[in-house]
Amino acid sequence: MVLCSLCGREPAVAKLRYAGVVLCRECFLRYFEERVRRTLDSLGLTHELSGKLVAVATSGGKDSLNTLFLLNKLKEEYDYDILAILIDEGISGYREFKRKALEAFCDKFKISFKVVSMRDSLGYDIDTVAKLSYEGKIDLKPCSVCGVFRRYLVNLEALKAGVDYIATGHNLDDEVQTFIMNFIRGDLASMVREGPFLHEDFPGFIPRFKPLYYVPEKESLIYFMLNGLETPYVECPYAPLSMRYYIRNLINRIEYASPGTKLRILSLKEHLRTIKGKVPSPSLRKCEICGMPTTRRVCRTCEIRMLLSRV
Ligand code: FES
Ligand code: ZN
Repeated sequence: MVLCSLCGREPAVAKLRYAGVVLCRECFLRYFEERVRRTLDSLGLTHELSGKLVAVATSGGKDSLNTLFLLNKLKEEYDYDILAILIDEGISGYREFKRKALEAFCDKFKISFKVVSMRDSLGYDIDTVAKLSYEGKIDLKPCSVCGVFRRYLVNLEALKAGVDYIATGHNLDDEVQTFIMNFIRGDLASMVREGPFLHEDFPGFIPRFKPLYYVPEKESLIYFMLNGLETPYVECPYAPLSMRYYIRNLINRIEYASPGTKLRILSLKEHLRTIKGKVPSPSLRKCEICGMPTTRRVCRTCEIRMLLSRV
């Protein structure tokens, strides 16, 4: 039996290859939660969240449920309220299962939640968008529409509910993938802007933070399982069509061959964020159609809806 590298007494349940250590259940949970707490503290949220309403944007997957679980656990200590928001994109064979998982989770932990239908709110669901894309009627991938619509609706619903902060379940792997995708697109402004906390002083923009920013996806899965949390392991059927899917597999292969790769990329990303002020980035304005914050004359959501309405 392999014993925990920290306490040396209990059997190890998690191997952190990048650090060359194995941890037992107790030490792993403590290590995990401490890292999340340190992240919140480093973002200046220790006292800032007091008396506030925090919305957790959740898909019903392990990372967003972990985020909900952790923020629910810390809410008395930090003194805030939480609300879960799930956007139903209308993806059959996937969404209904994840939605049930969220409902069961919120029932169990007595968390209020809101489910928002993309079709009811914006007139389109992602199954329809995917069909139009397959038929060559639009030059848009389901994922790019889904990401834009989901972010838009989470912000909109949070505004309606009087939310002060939005928390998302992005983990270290997501951040590294986004960084590489921005690199491939040559989008330096996004490479230096995106971090664990995003705040723009503009009406209608709700500050967002990412409690799992420094947590590798594999550790998020271990935490989820050790806490006995449940979600069906179904993946969105359109995920393999996205660039993210390709990048994720590629980085996982590199990480396997060279442990610590993801951490090194993240630390490069952190380093680059220090030059944020030197990279010109477009400022926010109000969308001429819907009035939501955007960097364009017409926001991407309104633009896509116009495009879809012409098909
Ligand atoms: Fe589901 Fe992209 S539309 S992962
Ligand atoms: Zn708009």
